[in-house]
Amino acid sequence: MSLINWIDDRFPLSKVWNEHMAQYYAPKNFNFWYYFGALSLVVLVLQIVTGIILTMHYKPDADLAFASVEYIMRDVPAGWFVRYLHGVGASMFFLVVYLHMFRAMLYGSHRKPRELIWLLGMVIYVALMAEAFFGYLLPWGNMSYWGAQVIISLFGAIPVIGEPLAEWIRGDFVVSDATLNRFFAFHVILLPLLLALLVYLHIVALHKVGSNNPDGVEIKKNKDKDGNPVDGIPFHPYYTVKDTFGVAVFMTTFLGIVFFVPELGGWFLEKDNFAPADILQTPPDIVPLWYLTPYYSILRAVTFEWLPGGAKLWGVIAMGAAIVMFFFLPWLDRAKVRSIRYRGWMYKSALTLFAVTFVMLGYLGTKNPGHVDLFLFKNVIWAQIGLVVYFAFFLLMPIYTRFDPTKPEPDRVG
Ligand code: HEM
Repeated sequence: MSLINWIDDRFPLSKVWNEHMAQYYAPKNFNFWYYFGALSLVVLVLQIVTGIILTMHYKPDADLAFASVEYIMRDVPAGWFVRYLHGVGASMFFLVVYLHMFRAMLYGSHRKPRELIWLLGMVIYVALMAEAFFGYLLPWGNMSYWGAQVIISLFGAIPVIGEPLAEWIRGDFVVSDATLNRFFAFHVILLPLLLALLVYLHIVALHKVGSNNPDGVEIKKNKDKDGNPVDGIPFHPYYTVKDTFGVAVFMTTFLGIVFFVPELGGWFLEKDNFAPADILQTPPDIVPLWYLTPYYSILRAVTFEWLPGGAKLWGVIAMGAAIVMFFFLPWLDRAKVRSIRYRGWMYKSALTLFAVTFVMLGYLGTKNPGHVDLFLFKNVIWAQIGLVVYFAFFLLMPIYTRFDPTKPEPDRVG
């Protein structure tokens, strides 16, 4: 086509398309778990588009914010739809990203030579948590307000610089209009820019080494006479079509939630956030949304006041360490094989126990630590057990992955 030729003479359009789509070879055995990278990308775009529309009507001012959100819900044409897409989208984002991360742990995608893809993924994950935290203050509901108050006050636990640091973050002695303004700036411009850049780098790193797959076999080792991997197929049209199907199923589920249960019983939108921020009225249980509660549980599990510096300081350290652990995963894992299919009972049991613990911690983080919501013990005791299992999974990994009775990895994908 002459237009394409005209562009190609001035810009490497066909070259980039071929290198990254039409002649980019991906393993032919991708399964269900390989949908979630593409889905994360879809949700990122959706969050940016709905975010831009919300910004057209939202007012980042402590006196106007809450009412402007009500106005979006009631008076802006389809405003309720855009807001629910964005709010439910935040939870769906974490859901697909958690499944995407779990896939890596199943098939050893974090292992050499994909360590940098994993590390960039972890930076994305931390940036995503920050993005969600900043966004949650914007509706200026009572849970927005108190959630921010609690999380920022955690910085106060750091010795010497803690209090001045918390004050610097808030821009005031309490969460106020100054805090709302800076959170708005971070949420609508700084973090989206950063996320877009990180996702770009994540995919550049992926295309340098190529995808792993459910067998954990390196497809580049077996090439045909044209130099293409025998176990690979061109990403376009094969995986563009397959991913389109995944996106259709995902969007159906997503829209089902948006139309019929946008609050999902308080899991996606908390009841206390339907009341405006009130400095004199603390909600009975201040908890973040589900995607942050595993770490919140770890924070609250540290109740030992006899620790030097106090329980709060060590809770904050444990919470930070819980996130940092993931960064070291590529080096903690010493197994001879990548995929769960060829690993032994040790890694299989450890990963299952870890996944169950992560979900349990997430659940407990939404509950009052003094109540009994599981069985036998108070929530805080279960959270303490969870904390031990959580850290044991990472810290003992070099041992159990080395001695795990693995099966030999095949040469070709199944
Ligand atoms: C906005 C968030 C993210 C987006 C848009 C994204 C996008 C993608 C895409 C499109 C792929 C290739 C398709 C696939 O393998 O599913 C991929 C692969 C990968 N991602 Fe992500 N990702 C995100 C977050 C993360 C996070 C948080 C981690 C881990 C901490 C991570 C780790 C990986 C790894 C290890 C691979 C290689 C998988 C393999 O080859 O088996 N990603 N990502």
